[in-house]
Amino acid sequence: MSTTTERDRDPADRVKIFDTTLRDGEQSPGISLNRQEKLEIAHQLARLGVDVIEAGFPITSPGDFESVQAIAREVQGPVVCALARTSKQDIDAAWEAVRDAERPRIHTFIATSDIHIERKLQTSREDVIGQVRAAVAHARALTDDVEFSPEDGSRSDLEYMAEVIAVALEEGASTINVPDTVGYALPGEYAAMFTRLHELVPALNDAVLSVHCHDDLGLAVANSLAGLQAGCRQVECAINGIGERAGNASLEEIVMLLRTREPSLGLWTGIETREIARTSRLVSRLTGYPVQPNKAIVGRNAFAHEAGIHQDGVLKERTTYEIMDAETVGLKSNAIVLGKHSGRHALKAALEELGFTVDGQALNAAFKRFKEVADRKKSLSAMDLEALLTDELRTGEIGAYALEDFTLKAGRGFAQAIVEVSVPSDGGGSARRSGVSEGDGPIDAIFKAINAATACDAALSDFRVEAVTEGEDALGQVSVVVDVAGVSGAGQGVSTDTVQAAGEAYIRALSVALARRSAPALRS
Ligand code: KIV
Ligand code: ZN
Repeated sequence: MSTTTERDRDPADRVKIFDTTLRDGEQSPGISLNRQEKLEIAHQLARLGVDVIEAGFPITSPGDFESVQAIAREVQGPVVCALARTSKQDIDAAWEAVRDAERPRIHTFIATSDIHIERKLQTSREDVIGQVRAAVAHARALTDDVEFSPEDGSRSDLEYMAEVIAVALEEGASTINVPDTVGYALPGEYAAMFTRLHELVPALNDAVLSVHCHDDLGLAVANSLAGLQAGCRQVECAINGIGERAGNASLEEIVMLLRTREPSLGLWTGIETREIARTSRLVSRLTGYPVQPNKAIVGRNAFAHEAGIHQDGVLKERTTYEIMDAETVGLKSNAIVLGKHSGRHALKAALEELGFTVDGQALNAAFKRFKEVADRKKSLSAMDLEALLTDELRTGEIGAYALEDFTLKAGRGFAQAIVEVSVPSDGGGSARRSGVSEGDGPIDAIFKAINAATACDAALSDFRVEAVTEGEDALGQVSVVVDVAGVSGAGQGVSTDTVQAAGEAYIRALSVALARRSAPALRS
């Protein structure tokens, strides 16, 4: 397998990575990230080297607006982009949220397929053209960097969509993104659509053409690649492939596909691939969405060899069964970094090495948590620290429910839990409540006691336990999804004690479901 060197690379073949984890990704069922969590992810995306961060959809809620604004103000490096429909209010909200960024972008969209125009928007093709003209012109009066997307592009009448795109370009859009919104396209069709668009709209030669694919038929990455091979030079994707329904194209798969097959494809990105695994773990913990074990690139088994013949081959020569090196995606950086006797300075330095800047109160809280764990677990690796710190980020969140304490009595076939939780109170503070319940086992009892304490009838819909690292004293990571009156919430918890991790994951999932229930339902 030959590799392409930096020298051989043609700037015209550089593919821009547009990350939409915080916008389309956050539209996944059960996910609701707060401002601090979004900022943490955005900083990590900047370390990963993405070109554009789509930070949110500011008109949808004051919380989303504030998160986008905080990212625009704090995160350096990538373009910071906000989504807007074509209305003036949407575009003004998007601009207010991103205007302080080093490089702000407004992304405006409207559907161009007849089914969306007639049934969803209940308007006409002519009206859509008028809206696009006005929206792009207004956005361009605010910033030079405007992206336009004809939603449901892959199911739109091509000649009509070309007309719409020509209008967006005339008004000054510099990026045109044609989404496969419902994940219906086939790779050949999607590529042919771009080839034809180039013929119909010559002005596209001066713009960046972009792909945005959903995974309903498992083709999001294949379709994205087909679009890139047809000349597109921006790909919209999300970490771990999260997103509406079956998700978006997975960033890590696209990046490693382009890198591993660069000699054949000739396309390249500016991604620092050694940050991929860490970004994937951070997003998984903060969203509460576990990564499936056999997920390409970042799954636990992506570089594991089970069959004896394979193990033997890899020991003799790694490339007999591996097409990528786990180190390239940052999967092997798990050295021991701290021990039981390490002090506050050592913890701060280790966290800085991992990219977290923690001072003052946050450092005190992280140090307390570290000491509790180090007493039970002699040494902590980089992955342990990362898991604890991301877990700590969620503890003490204002306005969220939290598990303060619990006691358990359990025997064969019997368990009783008493929990103490803090619940948000009307004045913005919090109050303590306790709850008692019996259950089939300790975890069932603690979940039911949390329901009693929060007076919330949450039902468990998914529960997974895995170890953060290997070994008998490994930290346990529990992922939970609950349903509260038809609204789902996902949460994770990390601890040396699996029951505690489960309780924390459950109460976080419950908080997310309650927050989503009270949030406005406006989505793209
Ligand atoms: O899938 C889609 O069409 C979108 C647009 C808003 C770009 O997410
Ligand atoms: Zn989408």
